[in-house]
Amino acid sequence: MNPHRKRTAVLISGRGSNMAALVKAAQQDDFPAKIDLVLSNREDAAGLEFAASHGVPTRVLSHRGYADRAAFDTALDGLLREEGIEIVCLAGFMRLLTPWLVEQWQDRMINVHPSILPSFKGLHTHERALEMGVRVHGCTVHFVRAEMDAGPIILQAVVPIEADDTPDTLAARVLTQEHIIYPKGLELLAADRLTVENERVRISGMQPGPAPLISPSV
Ligand code: GAR
Repeated sequence: MNPHRKRTAVLISGRGSNMAALVKAAQQDDFPAKIDLVLSNREDAAGLEFAASHGVPTRVLSHRGYADRAAFDTALDGLLREEGIEIVCLAGFMRLLTPWLVEQWQDRMINVHPSILPSFKGLHTHERALEMGVRVHGCTVHFVRAEMDAGPIILQAVVPIEADDTPDTLAARVLTQEHIIYPKGLELLAADRLTVENERVRISGMQPGPAPLISPSV
């Protein structure tokens, strides 16, 4: 049994499949993080039900109740601190965060994004990848910085693009990889194996060799 499993919050806005992958991974006794809170800014987020049914405390903090982004982020930060949270995972949390909040959680807040960053930041990544005719696509787990979908990269997974792909088939292939690399990224962070130097991530205890690349065949 791990002596101190890092208290982790997962922030969602909708389906929450990545949150579910994190919750399942953290159910292992030797996982270095424990999911102590799932927080949604929308009360209708489907993921809340999954979290509750797996014994994870849930909270809804609606952005509608706050005058502006800064007020919402102050309340969010306060709530995370009250709960003694040490790591924050954004998992389809569809809110732009203020630079102030990002700074509070510098190198303790991570995100998963459905593209090989820095390509295809923002929304509709699968449609845009198909439109551009790129041959490979994928997903990224990264530390959060003030700029949207930017920050030191922890892990990436690559998937091929097939000739008959639609945005939906491609999204499904990428999502399968998100569910693999996001728990791995959280595990590395919670086990204190990540250091950020000059905005690049070093992973301790890795064999020398190519950068961590997870492909569907692994
Ligand atoms: C995921 O594909 C995630 O990568 C993406 O939203 C989806 C949420 O799905 N996040 C972003 O686009 C962040 N820029 P989920 O609720 O099932 O995890």
